[in-house]
Amino acid sequence: MGTIGFTSFGFPLKTRNQNLPVVASAYASPSPERIDSEENGCGVLKRTTSIVSRASLVSSSILWFPKEGLAVVKQGLVAGRIPGYLNLMNKTVEGGLTANLRSPAAMEMAGVRSFRTPFRKSNMKIKMSSTTNQVIRCKAAVAWEAGKPLVIEEVEVAPPQKMEVRIKILFTSLCHTDVYFWEAKGQNPLFPRIFGHEAGGVVESVGEGVTDLHPGDHVLPVFTGECKECAHCKSEESNMCDLLRINTDRGVMIHDQKSRFSINGKPIFHFVGTSTFSEYTVVHVGCLAKINPLAPLDKVCILSCGISTGLGATLNVAKPKKGSSVAIFGLGAVGLAAAEGARIAGASRIIGVDLNANRFELAKKFGVTEFVNPKDHTKPVQEVIAEMTNGGVDRSVECTGHIDAMISAFECVHDGWGVAVLVGVPHKDAVFKTSPLNLLNERTLKGTFFGNYKPRSDIPSVVEKYMNKELELEKFITHELPFSEINKAFDLMLKGEGLRCIIRMGE
Ligand SMILES: NC(=O)c1ccc[n+]([C@@H]2O[C@H](COP(=O)([O-])OP(=O)(O)OC[C@H]3O[C@@H](n4cnc5c(N)ncnc54)[C@H](O)[C@@H]3O)[C@@H](O)[C@H]2O)c1
Ligand SMILES: [Zn+2]
Ligand SMILES: [Zn+2]
Repeated sequence: MGTIGFTSFGFPLKTRNQNLPVVASAYASPSPERIDSEENGCGVLKRTTSIVSRASLVSSSILWFPKEGLAVVKQGLVAGRIPGYLNLMNKTVEGGLTANLRSPAAMEMAGVRSFRTPFRKSNMKIKMSSTTNQVIRCKAAVAWEAGKPLVIEEVEVAPPQKMEVRIKILFTSLCHTDVYFWEAKGQNPLFPRIFGHEAGGVVESVGEGVTDLHPGDHVLPVFTGECKECAHCKSEESNMCDLLRINTDRGVMIHDQKSRFSINGKPIFHFVGTSTFSEYTVVHVGCLAKINPLAPLDKVCILSCGISTGLGATLNVAKPKKGSSVAIFGLGAVGLAAAEGARIAGASRIIGVDLNANRFELAKKFGVTEFVNPKDHTKPVQEVIAEMTNGGVDRSVECTGHIDAMISAFECVHDGWGVAVLVGVPHKDAVFKTSPLNLLNERTLKGTFFGNYKPRSDIPSVVEKYMNKELELEKFITHELPFSEINKAFDLMLKGEGLRCIIRMGE
């Protein structure tokens, strides 16, 4: 209680009201900007306050009173940007700060007492140390060699260049695609490298030409981008941006073909333009979805890849009709998000296919109604499914990355109308082999990256679905670990245990 230590700035702030419960371990976005606003009779910070908790806190919120330079941090949900607080400047706030800053009930639950905000005129300049334009030294999990445990190293992260943004990663999680490229068994090896592409963070600084993101904005990095200018970005049908589509072999930034990460001057490669296993990373602005600052980043970070991918694969690509049958191959997080999409679309039968029998119990929570384990059958799984469904399912979505499952997923759809969607990332030498007759018989084969969502245009509204309780994310999160234990998340995925493991960067 009393004093809040802001680790990024290193300056202590006194709380105004000592009765307010205060969480001491918070940190602030490193480069807030300040403007003087006459509107509320006080100077306000224009943008700042992606204040989040560390240690075991989910997240925190802050009120910033520029006149007095005080801050109140309360464990609760998420901090937002100042526009949310502007409303508070003229008001007595009953209670604390939670997801809905204006909800007295939520505030009461958070246990913060009433207090009055000061709104005197102020010209006080708040001096803040800033990392803008400077190299940041921070911790990152570096993969030095294929399949070898990651090593937490101190890395240098260069400032963002043209059309780039440097972000502070707060939470990241592991997707199977990271594991494939780390193992490099069926993919091209590129080391040393910083993996990670499913994450949530806060903008620290922006490079030349970036106008629609600002320090303090909450963002989800996405492995495939949206420049908003190319033919793909302009097409309603595609998310395969010419400039920023997924590229697993590049390892450097597009602008100058250089890495922004180094250790003692030696460059470390990026991964799919995101490299979120680092406390700070640099990302092209087109690969960042700006989201509601009130959304809890430790939950919505999984929308940055897996869950949006699975959900979109069903809703945007397979498009099952109400009452239809859907087979999902692979019941990891991506597959179960695809199942969730089928449930939302009103599918009447959702058949889950997985080699790991442990997945089946979990899958019930996602609306999977029937299970098939290919190991329990002597005939090919497509034949088993055809028998179960009087000729085949209406839709199938493959989320395994294994070529046999991809072929089965295609061959198990009904002739005449069946549609199969491939999502899994295949071995680089994999070849899809099927009789052309399967296509002539009016089956459709499709594939998708990121569930056909355009990251900047579409993901903010997927986040809103979670905020409006139309989409549940908690059930996908089966584990949590501090950053220092990131290798355990790899072990869990390799053993097929759990779905998503949230890695807390602040510890
Ligand atoms: N296309 C995209 O945009 C995109 C995005 C994210 C992930 N992916 C890919 O989606 C796949 C799933 O990712 P995840 O994070 O959910 O992985 P995961 O490891 O959590 O889940 C994969 C599941 O597939 C099962 N499986 C493996 N081989 C199988 C087979 N032959 N038949 C049936 N089940 C099988 C596994 O037992 C596991 O339960 C991966 O290939 C990943 O690379 C693609
Ligand atoms: Zn992924
Ligand atoms: Zn584009």
